[in-house]
Amino acid sequence: MGKTIVIQPVTRIEGHAKITIQLDDQGDVADARVNVVELRGFERFCVGRPVEELPRIVCRICGVCPWAHHLASAKACDAVFGVTIPEAAAKIREAAYMAHFLHSHVLHFFILSGPDFVMGPGADFAVRNVVGVIGKVPEVATRVVRVRYLAQMMTQLMGGKAIHPDVAVPGGWSKPITSAELAELKGMAQECLDFSLFAMEFAKTQIFPAYLDEVKTVAVFPTGAIGTVQAGGVLNLYDGNLRLMEPGGAFADFPPAEYLDHIGEHVEPWSYLKFPYAKKWGPFSMDLEHPSGIYRANALARINVCDRIGTPKAQAELEEFRSRFGRPAHNTLLFHWARLIETVYAAERLTELLADPAITSPDVRLAVKPRAARGVGSVEAPRGTLIHDYETDADGMVKNVNIIVGTTHNNAPINMSVKHAAKSLIKKGNYDERVLNLIEMTVRAHDPCFSCATHRLGEVAVRIEIRNPSGEIVGVLEN
Ligand code: MG
Ligand code: NI
Repeated sequence: MGKTIVIQPVTRIEGHAKITIQLDDQGDVADARVNVVELRGFERFCVGRPVEELPRIVCRICGVCPWAHHLASAKACDAVFGVTIPEAAAKIREAAYMAHFLHSHVLHFFILSGPDFVMGPGADFAVRNVVGVIGKVPEVATRVVRVRYLAQMMTQLMGGKAIHPDVAVPGGWSKPITSAELAELKGMAQECLDFSLFAMEFAKTQIFPAYLDEVKTVAVFPTGAIGTVQAGGVLNLYDGNLRLMEPGGAFADFPPAEYLDHIGEHVEPWSYLKFPYAKKWGPFSMDLEHPSGIYRANALARINVCDRIGTPKAQAELEEFRSRFGRPAHNTLLFHWARLIETVYAAERLTELLADPAITSPDVRLAVKPRAARGVGSVEAPRGTLIHDYETDADGMVKNVNIIVGTTHNNAPINMSVKHAAKSLIKKGNYDERVLNLIEMTVRAHDPCFSCATHRLGEVAVRIEIRNPSGEIVGVLEN
């Protein structure tokens, strides 16, 4: 008789999900799915609002990713109003965003995923958590708390408040940086840069070497990748063209406003999350033997798609990474390494922007006028390419909203990673706590935020299907 293994909840991620693994009569894995068990609805209830309210509304989608939504939304509004914002506004937006990236990436590496590496994938779950990490490397933990505080304070200095910001407005930014604030920011940014270099070295010498076997064997399978690049293929997290790279490395660049020509959204009846796919690569398929249209987003994808990084220390790390793992790298657990390279980049880029005299210009905002238009804004969220697409009527009221979130791009590869790992690690019904955690780690590597990613809203809010061991539906509950 087939058996079902359920991992619920998946811990140390943003939002709520469970993993269901279906075993066949021999105890081998027949199927595996990641079920997302929450529902949002922002695409629907933004309709009918004045479009300039959206940057303040959409940052409430998530308490972890507010800056990504805030800025993608402000950029979509700039496009709707047809304005190019002042240079200082663009620079402050990017600088505040780099501080947010530091805050978010340090959270993920050290607090959400760190326990798997610092304590070990098979460590007792009683210590495989942030408290265990603090006990084992207290001096590192102290610096992690300090740097997250600094990053949060920098966003507050530049934006008035750190969580659910309202400072980016259609046409620019509502608050110039004073020279006193700039001096304070420079000191904080330098401390963050010092830490990011330490974190990279710490991971390369004390963390990754112990797990290279897992990195090279768990959930390694080819996928495409998406990320944002500027002219010359240079990595950027705030602005640029989108680059969609095929599993073999060929790529196409296009402006974010043309995303619908390249990205389709597949729907499965068992998930509230859509499954975006590269529609020029053929029909969508998550079949591990014959995948089609599958690409990943988030740090590893960005590190794969960019030709180079524009800051020296992160570029040196990129070169080392490529010499060890190639381009594109398809190892799911390498997301962590890629995330640390981006942490170095974010700190370097922040330092560079703060050194630019243009950043203290008081000229940070243009007046805007409502019009009927469609506008697309995108940024690289810490969790992957984030696209906001708005349409307004002549009074500037919102008629239509489409949002594609970083984690949504990763929906198919997350499901495939879990299935791939489960198939290789569970044989003849044998598994243990370490195996189940390794499977969870393939979800965690993508740093998903399911709070951000669930937007599908139909007639039925929740549907529960009861299935027998062979997978047939024997009962349905709806509300
Ligand atoms: Mg959408
Ligand atoms: Ni989020």
